[in-house]
Amino acid sequence: MTRKKVLLGKREIKKGIKRIAGQLNNDYNNKSPILVGILKGAFVFLADLVRELTFPTKIDFISVSSYGDSTRSSGVVKITRDISIDIEGEDVILIEDVIDTGLTLSFIYDFLKRKNPKSLRICAFLEKKVERAKKFKVDYRGFLIPNKYIVGYGLDFSERLRNLPEINTMEF
Ligand code: IMP
Ligand code: MG
Repeated sequence: MTRKKVLLGKREIKKGIKRIAGQLNNDYNNKSPILVGILKGAFVFLADLVRELTFPTKIDFISVSSYGDSTRSSGVVKITRDISIDIEGEDVILIEDVIDTGLTLSFIYDFLKRKNPKSLRICAFLEKKVERAKKFKVDYRGFLIPNKYIVGYGLDFSERLRNLPEINTMEF
């Protein structure tokens, strides 16, 4: 048996999106960065975010697979779909749904860094309150949340529940 409870409702999510978009619109005014969404989880966040941006952008996606069970990050990451836009010399913003261990993000960050972008920043809608072995800077963040398994708003449980409009905690 599993139980779901709303952690962030539609209105709160909307406020978070507006807040991040405001910061990006300020920082990237007169620039034209490339947004790279991490599939699959970030697709809803990215879709909402881009519609609030006032500067020109290009959008791309990167996909990774991490081995292990569906509710824990194993740390072993493989690129399964690389970006198709050339980011050398460009401003790039990496878009992540949620940072848990941060292993996925730091792997992708290092991978993209080797393509020599002009700048590379991290924008994550959610960050779990956990101690991380590898520290890194989250440049834009929607919400700091408790260390619980969450679903909805792009996030899945065994590929399901991504379509829920709210972010829910899931108890097992
Ligand atoms: P990390 O490498 O541990 O930071 O997490 C990697 C990926 O696992 C994230 O990009 C999410 O797609 C997914 N993930 C992490 N925590 C959750 C969760 O609570 N629910 C659903 N997916 C999650
Ligand atoms: Mg996932």
